[in-house]
Amino acid sequence: MHAAFISHFGDSSVIQIKTIEPQAPIGGEVQIKITSAGLNRADILYREGRHYMRPATFPARIGYEGAGIVTAVGPETQAAIGERVALFPCGFDVTTQGALAQTVTVPYAQTISTPAHISDHDAGAYWMMYLTASGALLPYVKKDATVAISAASSSVGMAAIATCRALGAFPIALTTQIETKWDALLAAGAHEVLDIRASDLAKQLKAIDVAFCAVSGPVINSYTKALKPGGRIIQYGLLDASPWTPHVGLMIGKHIALEYFNIVQLLENPMQLAETIAFIQTHIGKALPIHMHQTFPLNDLVRAMEVMEANRHVGKIVILP
Ligand SMILES: NC(=O)c1ccc[n+]([C@@H]2O[C@H](COP(=O)([O-])OP(=O)(O)OC[C@H]3O[C@@H](n4cnc5c(N)ncnc54)[C@H](OP(=O)(O)O)[C@@H]3O)[C@@H](O)[C@H]2O)c1
Repeated sequence: MHAAFISHFGDSSVIQIKTIEPQAPIGGEVQIKITSAGLNRADILYREGRHYMRPATFPARIGYEGAGIVTAVGPETQAAIGERVALFPCGFDVTTQGALAQTVTVPYAQTISTPAHISDHDAGAYWMMYLTASGALLPYVKKDATVAISAASSSVGMAAIATCRALGAFPIALTTQIETKWDALLAAGAHEVLDIRASDLAKQLKAIDVAFCAVSGPVINSYTKALKPGGRIIQYGLLDASPWTPHVGLMIGKHIALEYFNIVQLLENPMQLAETIAFIQTHIGKALPIHMHQTFPLNDLVRAMEVMEANRHVGKIVILP
């Protein structure tokens, strides 16, 4: 079988597609033939050595998310051959079982059943984006709330727009490319689309309840100004690492909460995880659409990464191994 590896950190030239033997499952493991694997910005950060999860050794496999069909089972699992499952994003050992591959072997406990109405082609595309967006937003977004969403055209941003709509809230999409992405963001359910780089962004945002942010940097101060007293910033990415000085006085005065979210914490919180999975399984493919930008074969992984790094896409880039 073919699997993507990195031999050291660097640009897309460090990607190698190698032929290796699939690993036989032991104990509670299952072997899964991957039918689709979402590409995530985290894969690029991992490749560059800038992600908080780093490979334990080199060469290292790569790929945080994916789904497929069980092809072999270990002696201590109830799983059935032919079962359609997705991987819990980040819930397995990426260094040895990265999902940008034709096969992975992981504990059955680290998989989620794929609903019958979701195709094999879509199944590996949505867990990372919706576990991140819905997992972070469900505890805080109430009906009629106004939510600012940065990197709105990213896969997680699009999932956040849909999550807000499913909860009866108003998503305000913030994008760096308002001219080219305006229509797609409105079609995806944005109540308004704003240029995240506008100098009067705080004024345009008016009054918001929550900011869901993958960007960081100076935009945080625009949220602070626009947030209602008691509002919340949920920071889950660092696309802009520019230094900034927080308006701490304003944050104290308005009692604004700044929270950091990552999917691993969600996986470690059984109650919040169960609520999030139930919400996604109920609405996926309906109120929670799977916005697919483009698919690539595994042999074209380098090109897929280049498309992601160009930032012109809207929604999910998916590898079909
Ligand atoms: N915390 C977690 O557990 C978790 C889980 C999954 C993903 N993430 C993070 O979520 C973010 C989105 O991931 P993804 O895979 O959905 O990404 P993606 O689809 O590749 O998103 C790319 C988009 O982000 C925006 N962007 C890129 N660079 C930017 C910059 N310097 N300033 C402002 N906006 C910028 C652009 O959107 P516009 O054109 O609309 O501006 C760009 O098209 C990443 O930061 C990723 O690391 C975090």
